Amino acid sequence: MITTVTLNPAIDRSYIINDFQVDNRYRIDDVTVTVGGKGINVAKTASILGRRINATGFLGGLSGEYIKSELVKLGISTSFVNIAGESRHFTAIIDTINNTETTVNETGPFVTKAELTRFIKEYIRILKYSKIIIASGSVPRGVPKTIYRDMVKIAKDNNVVPIIDASGKYLEEAIKAKPYMIKPNIHELRDLVGYDLKNEFEIVHESRYICKQGVDIVVISLGSEGAIFATKERVFKAKAPSIKPVNTVGSGDALVAGFAIAMSENYGLEEAIKYGVACGTANALEKEIGYVDKDRVNSLYRKSKILRLE
Ligand SMILES: Nc1ncnc2c1ncn2[C@@H]1O[C@H](COP(=O)(O)OP(=O)(O)OP(=O)(O)O)[C@@H](O)[C@H]1O
Ligand SMILES: [Mg+2]
Repeated sequence: MITTVTLNPAIDRSYIINDFQVDNRYRIDDVTVTVGGKGINVAKTASILGRRINATGFLGGLSGEYIKSELVKLGISTSFVNIAGESRHFTAIIDTINNTETTVNETGPFVTKAELTRFIKEYIRILKYSKIIIASGSVPRGVPKTIYRDMVKIAKDNNVVPIIDASGKYLEEAIKAKPYMIKPNIHELRDLVGYDLKNEFEIVHESRYICKQGVDIVVISLGSEGAIFATKERVFKAKAPSIKPVNTVGSGDALVAGFAIAMSENYGLEEAIKYGVACGTANALEKEIGYVDKDRVNSLYRKSKILRLE
């Protein structure tokens, strides 16, 4: 089973507002509401593709109850730890005329020490039923910077494959425990290395440097440019056919879901890469974050191109 961890789940609302301007008033009839937070997005995509998924993390308040009930409807099993705080909202405003995506991301609830301890207990329990653990996204207040690093270590001690999609200090710490895979986007990689990455050569160089620190696979997603996949031995660049995106939020999560599924089913590295970018691109074609059309994934997969860089 694949388990996804979402420490800070959210109710996602996407509004399509064409020619969006600040300081203006809008009446919206095109609203898409879905449950999210990066780990939940991964769970949704993976479950649409037909895999048994368990989702864990923290949930609180009425938003938490709503998120849980929606996941159950999607056939995802849940083992969240209930907290006293209220799970948050995430809002995206999509403007297809000016091609902008404006997002408003609430920080979310505070997690107490006792709640964190309960989560770690639950995490250790659920690892016994998991082959892969995917922990993605922001971390709520009250949870230490080392959380993903600790989770990677515990997963490895239990022979579970850890995948981390995080940013900033959380990612920096996680790398120290040598996760199987990380997937920063280009901006997150820039933050990590601390300088402006000017070209593909520098991206490849930094990715390989992270591999040398013990991460098996470093995936750098590049939005419409596809993604670079580096291991200690090889580096590939992969891209699905060009599309007109509808909503690219969650495409990185879909990429992670696709790649993890393919690897768990023993696809070769190159096929898994193609499947990952196909899922990312399929998500970009949907209004709903974390949704992919399975037939479209398969067709994009067949048409995706992969190039060996090193
Ligand atoms: N505009 C686009 N056109 C085609 N494919 C896209 C586009 N945007 C994203 N993708 C696909 O999805 C993958 C992940 O996208 P991206 O780099 O935007 O991830 P991200 O910034 O981590 O997203 P998120 O964190 O919102 O999930 C890309 O590698 C690519 O395969
Ligand atoms: Mg991302």
